[in-house]
Amino acid sequence: MPLKNDLILRAARGENVERPPVWLMRQAGRILPEYRAVRSKLSGFRELVATPELACEVTLQPVDLLGVDAAILFSDILVIPEAMGLPYEMKSGVGPIFPSVIRNEADYKKISITDPRQSLDYVMEAISLIKTKLENRVPLIGFAGAPWTIFCYMTEGSGSKTFSVARRMIMENPALAQRLLNDIAEMTADYLVAQVEAGVDMLQVFDSWAAVLGPEEYKKFALPGIITITERLKDSGVPLTLFAKGAHHALPDLAGLQCNTIGIDWTIDPREARKIVGEGKTLQGNLDPAKLYCSHDEVRNHTLSMLQAFGKGRHIANLGHGVYPDTDPEKVKTFIDTIQSYKYAENA
Ligand code: CP3
Repeated sequence: MPLKNDLILRAARGENVERPPVWLMRQAGRILPEYRAVRSKLSGFRELVATPELACEVTLQPVDLLGVDAAILFSDILVIPEAMGLPYEMKSGVGPIFPSVIRNEADYKKISITDPRQSLDYVMEAISLIKTKLENRVPLIGFAGAPWTIFCYMTEGSGSKTFSVARRMIMENPALAQRLLNDIAEMTADYLVAQVEAGVDMLQVFDSWAAVLGPEEYKKFALPGIITITERLKDSGVPLTLFAKGAHHALPDLAGLQCNTIGIDWTIDPREARKIVGEGKTLQGNLDPAKLYCSHDEVRNHTLSMLQAFGKGRHIANLGHGVYPDTDPEKVKTFIDTIQSYKYAENA
């Protein structure tokens, strides 16, 4: 059965589209009261992630309630450290915490690459369930964290403003850092291939903490893992999006890789990003999520300005990062409606 709405796949591949497709990073989550209702009945976040029926239910919520042009698998980037032997806890109001971390050779012995088809079987089950329940309405996006971002959590043990523990390790013990980064990259590439086998239609790699590295370190420590992933996925047949938040200096390198789409945040003008990336890739983004705190009229105007800045085609509309949990879902609807009623023929 073909997809009823394949706009996002066509946009990713640079094919003709009548209007830009739209979805939101973190659309499956706390902005929706329906998500909070499911979540409040559970012992914790990990229970939601690890129960395919529940992960499926919250994945479908934004499709049913907001009418987005794609679903994104409900999971977390932190399932990878867990599958490698480092479990996490999600503390409310704090974020993720790892009771055990990797900072030296002895710690490194605690982790290993596992087969994601077994260690993350619940993700694969969730994907096939979601694909059934979606009934081909919209494509399903699978995802993983980029190796550098996962390395940050595995060494630091939590979020951080500076990630100085992670950056200390690449300075003090670059050989150990490289080994850990390589292992994460191999595991992540396997995981994304398994997601494709399980049925996802598209993939995104989130390098959320890219901006803590300078250009030289990004090239040396972050880019090789991303290349491992792009090489492994290039023949998979599903479009791939790379999003290195805040790392404008990485755009020329990312533009040279085997991916379809490059995500940009709101700190770069789409016209500038297009100049750097060239015509060969689709761009995704980039409304400042804080602009959804404006009035409905302002949200509409900001969204139209964003669409005009990207120009005709090769654009997947999104925010420049995840939607903030205290955003009014009605503002999200205004953002989505503005994009879905836009027509390239009349406006470009
Ligand atoms: O809708 C979607 O985008 C799909 C689900 C999704 C989640 N996390 C669910 C989630 C996705 C794609 C992620 C990715 C993720 N997780 C990233 C990369 C994207 C980004 O925002 O940069 C990162 C860095 C994480 C790690 C993580 N997970 C943090 C730092 C936190 C705590 C902060 C927060 O946002 O609450 C989480 C928890 C998390 N992941 C929640 C959700 C819905 C909130 C947990 C809850 O319900 O209490």
